[in-house]
Amino acid sequence: MQNIISVKDILEVEIIDMNHRGQGVAKVEGFVIFADNVMIGDRVKLEVIEVKKNYAVAKVLEILTTSPYKVKPECPYFWECGGCQLMHMDYDKQLEYKRDLVASEIRRSLPQAEFHIKDTIGMAYPYRYRNKGSFPVVREKGRVSIGAYKLTSHDIVDLESCIIQHPIADKVINVFRDLMVALRLEPYDEIKHTGLVKHLMVRTNTRNEAMLIIVMAKNKFLYKSEIIAKLLEEIPELSSIIMNVNDRQTNVILGNKNKILYGTPFLKDWIFDLEFAISPQSFFQVNSQQTEALYLKALEFANIDETTTVYDLFCGIGTISLAAAKKAKHVFGIESVKEAIVDANDNAKRNGIQNIDFHCGKAEDVFPKLYQQGYTADVVILDPPRKGCEKPVLETIIEMEPERVVYVSCNPTTLARDLKVLVYGGYEIKEVQPVDMFPHGVHVETVVCLHKKSM
Ligand SMILES: C[S@@+](CC[C@H](N)C(=O)[O-])C[C@H]1O[C@@H](n2cnc3c(N)ncnc32)[C@H](O)[C@@H]1O
Repeated sequence: MQNIISVKDILEVEIIDMNHRGQGVAKVEGFVIFADNVMIGDRVKLEVIEVKKNYAVAKVLEILTTSPYKVKPECPYFWECGGCQLMHMDYDKQLEYKRDLVASEIRRSLPQAEFHIKDTIGMAYPYRYRNKGSFPVVREKGRVSIGAYKLTSHDIVDLESCIIQHPIADKVINVFRDLMVALRLEPYDEIKHTGLVKHLMVRTNTRNEAMLIIVMAKNKFLYKSEIIAKLLEEIPELSSIIMNVNDRQTNVILGNKNKILYGTPFLKDWIFDLEFAISPQSFFQVNSQQTEALYLKALEFANIDETTTVYDLFCGIGTISLAAAKKAKHVFGIESVKEAIVDANDNAKRNGIQNIDFHCGKAEDVFPKLYQQGYTADVVILDPPRKGCEKPVLETIIEMEPERVVYVSCNPTTLARDLKVLVYGGYEIKEVQPVDMFPHGVHVETVVCLHKKSM
């Protein structure tokens, strides 16, 4: 069958929806068209640039009528930077969009299921919330550029400020850029394999301290003492400076080798009344304020008391595990990254918590083994990466039959896929709570409460 749309067609359409990547969605006789830089509610003139079997991609030629949800982005780099996708959308509408996205993914996977989805928990001030920033360092058009990748290419937007990052991150990129220019320190060139500096990573905490990780292509640091002295003079908030060596040619930012140039090998941060030490490689939620909102919901759904045994799968450095252990009889945490488990054990000690065992390994291997050895639980909390859970994790939950399952997810598509397995395995969805951990970005975090169905 021939498509009703061809490349170079000019169309006048209304943007009726946004997809999970923040692209506008229009339809012509049911055929879907995606376009960047438009907003739900815009009426636009588009030129079709690509046609696939089930959809087309178009570029905007003109906005004919502006959406009522459109606002002026607070960030001057928004239109070229790939960091945020929704800053041109009214914040209340962003929260609604995220709730609808989660609801439609679950409905698509489980059309028969009845569930209650709450309004997205948003932020009163949805800026300056990130506690971690990674900034590529390159030489572009003869200049040292430090910033973020552009929306449509591997080029860099040279940033002076990033309004979703902690202000210390702004200081770091500006001071470091000036130092590189003054000392003629060369960025790494990924084609010629010359130069040294690849990336800056800045982690900040809720007490205004920061860790700077300087990623180098080789185990070599020119002008080390001058650079450290100037950084500390200009940015007294730095509590540690780490050199990380990454000699691989991949998209992974950090290499395996860390060398402490100044201060401690970790950054401390606090969630509720718990203290955590975070190593450069460890996962820590990027929005500290919303993390507390997220964990409070997860703990409310888990409904833990001193008789409850809990599994915390994909536990990272033990943040949810330790908060749960303060109320529970016992907690088992499982995590695949070795450094995170070292941190988790250290964090348990730091907080004087003993009713917890951390296991290092893949949840899909360790969880079924522990269950076969007789370690069961009343509640399973799981917080997997974007790809969701492997089958053995879900199958073990279904066999173990904990009364409650709390699924924390950063990807509605894999969440919906995994919920289907749990619902078919005898669980019912009690409540779905989206939480906005990433204002102005397309990602959304969701906590789902599931109960074992009574027979
Ligand atoms: C979204 S994070 C959640 C961490 C933690 N719950 C928190 O809130 O900070 C997912 C974690 O799963 C870990 N991970 C990834 N794949 C895993 C697997 N197959 N088995 C166990 N852990 C895994 C990652 O290293 C990461 O720490």
